[in-house]
Amino acid sequence: AVRLFTTVAGLRSHLKHQRQNKTIGLVPTMGALHIGHQSLIKSAKTETDLVVVSIFVNPIQFTPTEDLQKYPRHLAQDRQLCENLGVDVIFAPSPEIMGMAEDSNTSSSEDMTRVIPPATMTSHLCGQFRPGHFTGVATIVTKLFNIINPDIAYFGEKDAQQLAIIRRIVEDLNIPVEIRGCPTIREPSGLAYSSRNQYLTPQQQEQASILYQSLQRAKQAFLGGERETASLIKIVEQELSSSDPINIQYVNLVDPKTLTPLTRVDHAGLLAIAAYLGSTRLIDNIILLNR
Ligand code: PAJ
Repeated sequence: AVRLFTTVAGLRSHLKHQRQNKTIGLVPTMGALHIGHQSLIKSAKTETDLVVVSIFVNPIQFTPTEDLQKYPRHLAQDRQLCENLGVDVIFAPSPEIMGMAEDSNTSSSEDMTRVIPPATMTSHLCGQFRPGHFTGVATIVTKLFNIINPDIAYFGEKDAQQLAIIRRIVEDLNIPVEIRGCPTIREPSGLAYSSRNQYLTPQQQEQASILYQSLQRAKQAFLGGERETASLIKIVEQELSSSDPINIQYVNLVDPKTLTPLTRVDHAGLLAIAAYLGSTRLIDNIILLNR
């Protein structure tokens, strides 16, 4: 049966006894587990001996205007799903345990050490609209690496900026973990699974598929020989603008590794969108690869 730990000491002592010569796979999540998360867990199951899923709605990666309070929390359901998938350990700490209490003199998130990713990697895409977000992500992920010492950690390509930043942090800080990027899992409509899709009405869920459709339009043009960033972005923007309820936040085309803007796609490009549908913020991306 899956074991659930809520304290760092409890988890560490369990892993110390279980570890032996086994490899540990870590899947960091904020819970409300869906098919996208499941695919990361399945990869971890096939590649490592002991699979740890962390479930923690990390307060310091939400900006003040964002949905921290209403973010879905379904621990009982998540636990059952992990059980069914053969997960060995769930780590589900409180903000206090992680030193991120909101109103506390002892372990407040206001007064903690943070891991700050390079500005070149946070000044475009989501970083420009979510100040402090990737510092919050980098800090929690570094803490999880230090608590669990996984051999391999699994992240989705859906959050391409997050994945690139984590790869860079691991490189820059010499963290002994292998980072696995896993493909984006989509509904038949093309809509990428996300915990935030729960905020959408059935009608909005249909409308949301235009994000992926617009990326596919640009991909067709790319495969037809279009290499200019301005033209590729325009294709996406025009498609998205054809839908009244969609409000574009950004359409960016950047280097997939360094996340710096490209004027042309000579080798590879990360084409990424953020858009609002009502009050729900959605993101999606694809990689354009020149063969
Ligand atoms: P969360 O949004 O719960 O996502 C957990 C992991 O699942 C991330 O690596 C994300 O990229 C991946 N994921 C989400 N939707 C996916 C999909 N449709 N297909 C494939 N993978 C998908 O990302 C976070 O949590 C947090 O920022 C975290 C890394 C846990 C740090 O707090």
